[in-house]
Amino acid sequence: NRFIIFPSVYNFLMCCLWVTIESIPAANSEGYILTELNKTISLTCKHDATSDIDNELVWLRNDALVSLNEGNKNGQSRVCISPVILEDRETIFTCYLRSNASNRVSVVLNVTYPPPLTDSEEITVEEEASLILNCVIEAYPPVSSVVWMLNGTEVDLKEGRFTLANNGLSSTLSTEKVQQSLHEATYICAAVSPLYGTKTKVFTVNVTDKTLKFPLYPMIAGIVVVCLTSILAVASRWRKIVKVASTNTHTLRCPYSRN
Ligand SMILES: *[C@@H]1O[C@H](CO)[C@@H](O)[C@H](O)[C@H]1NC(C)=O
Ligand SMILES: *[C@@H]1O[C@H](CO)[C@@H](O)[C@H](O)[C@H]1NC(C)=O
Ligand SMILES: *[C@@H]1O[C@H](CO)[C@@H](O)[C@H](O)[C@H]1NC(C)=O
Ligand SMILES: *[C@@H]1O[C@H](CO)[C@@H](O)[C@H](O)[C@H]1NC(C)=O
Ligand SMILES: *[C@@H]1O[C@H](CO)[C@@H](O)[C@H](O)[C@H]1NC(C)=O
Repeated sequence: NRFIIFPSVYNFLMCCLWVTIESIPAANSEGYILTELNKTISLTCKHDATSDIDNELVWLRNDALVSLNEGNKNGQSRVCISPVILEDRETIFTCYLRSNASNRVSVVLNVTYPPPLTDSEEITVEEEASLILNCVIEAYPPVSSVVWMLNGTEVDLKEGRFTLANNGLSSTLSTEKVQQSLHEATYICAAVSPLYGTKTKVFTVNVTDKTLKFPLYPMIAGIVVVCLTSILAVASRWRKIVKVASTNTHTLRCPYSRN
């Protein structure tokens, strides 16, 4: 299960300080390590320097330096990738002697993963609303095909007035105007992975009668207009009332002043 990448014959003949990477699991002849999500990878860099001077090893993850503990630098150095995550795809690990950066060796992670289709979804949609069914099909290696089934038979796009879109990352089956007789059904999105077989997601679509939506915003606008008009009406009347009241006061006061 181990594999050592030998540097070129040229290095072997011309240089004495050559560097090798041992990996678990093994890399192929192009330096690719085949792995999956959540797995662990162990990389050990070694060199055959005869002296203890200048034997410090350096690791790069892509182009960034990997920080190494003291005691994991000299003569031999080990790095672990655990667990392997999606971001590790195509990551290049490079090792060299600090004293000679031109003598380097690399491995690349080849992370495979299935399309993430395992769950199921229940959807309730109103008559005449739009319906969108989405399946994430991103995988490595890429899925070779995606099939949509309706009640057990392949979806007839024309008959069901569906639109099908696939951008390589997701496959979307949609319709703009739901009709119970056409669209209430059990749907299955099936993606075929060359490595992991067929993965499916089930959608149960339930079409309900159209409900008359309460026209909330027009209602609020109407109420505001009515309120404003009444306030204005009261305000203008208020001035009259006040005017009348003050006139009355005046006329009332007259007899008093006379008294
Ligand atoms: C990897 O591990 C995570 C968390 O433990 C889990 O949710 C996920 O399903 C695993 N993925 C695979 C491909 O095994
Ligand atoms: C560094 O390594 C290269 C390639 O292996 C070799 O040609 C060169 O002589 C080395 N330089 C030193 C200073 O060891
Ligand atoms: C990565 O692994 C997949 C699955 O085995 C394979 O098809 C693909 O060719 C590999 N890629 C490289 C660059 O080696
Ligand atoms: C799918 O099957 C269900 C249950 O048998 C049925 O009620 C529904 O009308 C069918 N949908 C279509 C579009 O044929
Ligand atoms: C659809 O939803 C309605 C209301 O929630 C429910 O009464 C009915 O049983 C559901 N029908 C199906 C086929 O799930």
